[in-house]
This record gives sequence, structure tokens and C-alpha cells, in this order.
Amino acid sequence: MQRIRDFKPVGMDTRGLFSPCSFFGLSFNNRLARSATAERCADAQGSVGPEYVSMHQMLAQGGVGLIITGHAYVSPEGATTPSMTGIHNNTVIPRLKQTTDTVHTYPGVKIIMQINHAGRQTPYVPEGLHAIAPSVVPAPKCLVPSEMSDREIADTIDRYVQAAERVKAAGFDGVQLHGAHGYLISQFVSPYTNRRTDDFGGSIKNRLRFVTEIITRIKRSLGDSFPVLIKWNSEDFVPQGLSQDQSLAMVFALQETGLDGIEISGGIFESSAKICRRHIKKPEDEAYYAGFAKRLKQDGLGIPVILAGGFRSAQKAGEIISSGIADLVSFCRPLIRDPALPDRLRHNPSLRSDCISCNRCLLQQDGPTKCWR
Ligand SMILES: Cc1cc2nc3c(=O)[nH]c(=O)nc-3n(C[C@H](O)[C@H](O)[C@H](O)COP(=O)(O)O)c2cc1C
Ligand code: SF4
Repeated sequence: MQRIRDFKPVGMDTRGLFSPCSFFGLSFNNRLARSATAERCADAQGSVGPEYVSMHQMLAQGGVGLIITGHAYVSPEGATTPSMTGIHNNTVIPRLKQTTDTVHTYPGVKIIMQINHAGRQTPYVPEGLHAIAPSVVPAPKCLVPSEMSDREIADTIDRYVQAAERVKAAGFDGVQLHGAHGYLISQFVSPYTNRRTDDFGGSIKNRLRFVTEIITRIKRSLGDSFPVLIKWNSEDFVPQGLSQDQSLAMVFALQETGLDGIEISGGIFESSAKICRRHIKKPEDEAYYAGFAKRLKQDGLGIPVILAGGFRSAQKAGEIISSGIADLVSFCRPLIRDPALPDRLRHNPSLRSDCISCNRCLLQQDGPTKCWR
């Protein structure tokens, strides 16, 4: 990992960005990652279609160093849509294994699966099930959840651990917990969505208990050499939500659990415009969570940081890497638009993505995820 240096633009210095590197015990061709992107190509049982394999093959071919898959649900009531990828039982493993085998034919490209539970943030649960959350705080346009009992909390922690075991069995290089964007882990850590008065609510330590238990149990089950990452909110951007100061304190506490790396983002459903921001037109609009990543590094965080949010150019990505604000940078929408963008940027560092950040890929949900422009 790099030590942070003065954050000043360094022009077209993209050398660090495109140099081979190692983090979390894995080697990558470069520091350009694909941030988790829901694929929306699974059947109602969560088994992915052939598009899943080809989407990831195109990314590997396009020169990215690390692929983080779209979120996969650990338990059926934790799905966000009927076409979301599942990692809730063993029948989903063969197609996923086909995907990891394909990606691993590209040397220096790694693939990590993101696992998730929607909690309160879902308009859909399969028949016979119901939405669950730390507290009854309904999200916009979503089902009203019931407050999780002690039994449901324990069962859901088990589901995360079992899902991580399947991720490893399917040949992924690591697992990323979705701890951002207002989903279940994020609901536990946020005082806005967690109103509990038991051991899982109140203090920072109590609100972290759910995710801490998940990380500790996954580490115990899968061993130290299997990387466990988390995507994390710098802040929630709602009144009474997770603040930057609280988030920062929590990241340092998470580091003590054996967590291998963290990816920074922000926002929940009530503040969703902060997650996939629009109007990214010039380098100053890019890397919109760099300020928080910089704080983590300045305060001496010891685990690698991936920075997500708004990257559109090698220039900005290179600046973030060479100044030490993050160890890797992650792109989502530009790689929906063009999975070969990493190679293009490597050959022509002055290029910018022609993704216009219109968010049609996010909002228009019929069929597998694609650029609709
Ligand atoms: C279509 C679409 C699907 C997404 N799916 C996920 C997801 O499954 N998990 C996640 O953590 N973030 C997801 N995101 C958010 C991105 O990973 C990323 O944090 C955000 O888009 C900002 O990065 P960008 O400016 O490079 O797009 C998704 C975004 C889009 C547009
Ligand atoms: S639909 Fe819009 S935001 Fe999505 S990839 Fe295409 S141009 Fe970018």
C-alpha cells in the first residue's frame, strides 16, 4: 500500500494505475476494478443465465484488473428483484463456476463476488416470505419490513456465512459484503434505520455487531487466505443517518475483525442520487468520495482502499492512485457502456468514457443490464 502524499493533480501520470500490483493476497494486472453491477439475468430461483458468463468474460477481455460481481442474495427474502443473482443454495454454483473458470483464463484478472441481503430496501419478496429489517422503517416504494427477532438475526448471519462458503466453492477469488447503499448491513450500522435498544442497536459497537459477527464467522470458516472485503458508506446523506465521523470510527473498528479491504461509496434509497451521481462532465466531478478515502488514509488505515464513484478518465483515476488516496479505483457505469474501456484508457490515457451518467442502465430494468443510450 502507498502512503498518502499531497493531493495534487499529476497530469497524465497513469503509470501506477496500469502497473501490476498485489492486494489482499491477490495479484492484479492493474489497479482498475469493476465496481459491483447487478446483472439482472437470473431466473426466479436465482440461477444466472449464459449472459452472466459472457458479461464477465467481456470485462476480463477488456483489461480490468479486478471484477466485483453484482450483488447476490444470501437468502430469498433478501432479493431486490426476481432477476437478481442468488447465492442462497448449492444449485446456483455450476454456472458461477463456469464464470470464474472463464475469467481465470485471463492472467492477472481476478473476480470477487458481492453478497447481499436487501432488508427493508425491496419492493419484492417471493410468496410466503416477508421483508425483514433491524427496525420498522419503510424505504421509499418498498415493502414494510418486520423487525428482526433474535432468531432471524442469528439465521441471517448463518446465511451470509453459508453464502460466502458457496462463493469460495464456485471458484471466486474472494467475497465482498455489501455494507453500503442502505441494504441490510448498512441498515444495522445506520442510526436512521436501526432503532433497536438491544445488543444490536444504540452504540457504534452494538450497531456494528451484526457485520462484525458475519466477518468473524466467515474468516473462521474460510481461513485467513480467502479475502473478505466490504463495500461501505462514507455517509448516508439523510437526517439522523450515518455521518462521516461515525463511518470513519466504524471502519477502524472493522479493520480489527480481520477484514482484508474496503470499497468506499455512499447514500441509501432515500438519498439514492448520491450513489450513482449524474452530471459527471469534467475531472472535478469525478471521484466524488475521494474526500472520505483521503481521511481514512490520513488517519492511518492499514487495509487497502478501493474508491468507487464517478470515475470517467484515466487522468482522474491515475491522480487518485499516484497521490495515495486509494489503492484501487472502481468503475461501474463506464464499463456497462464499454467493457473494453480499461484497455482503451491504457493505450490512450487522454481518453474519457463516453458514458453520460444518464442512469438509464440503473432505472430501466427489463432484461440483463446494458447501456440503453
Ligand atoms: C446498473 C447498476 C447496477 C448496480 N449494482 C450494484 C450492485 O449490485 N452492488 C453495488 O454495490 N453497487 C451497485 N451499483 C453502484 C455502482 O457499483 C457504483 O457504486 C456507482 O454506480 C458509482 O460508480 P460509477 O460512477 O462508476 O457508476 C450499481 C450501479 C448501476 C448503474
Ligand atoms: S445508460 Fe447512461 S449511465 Fe448507463 S452506461 Fe449508458 S450512458 Fe452510462
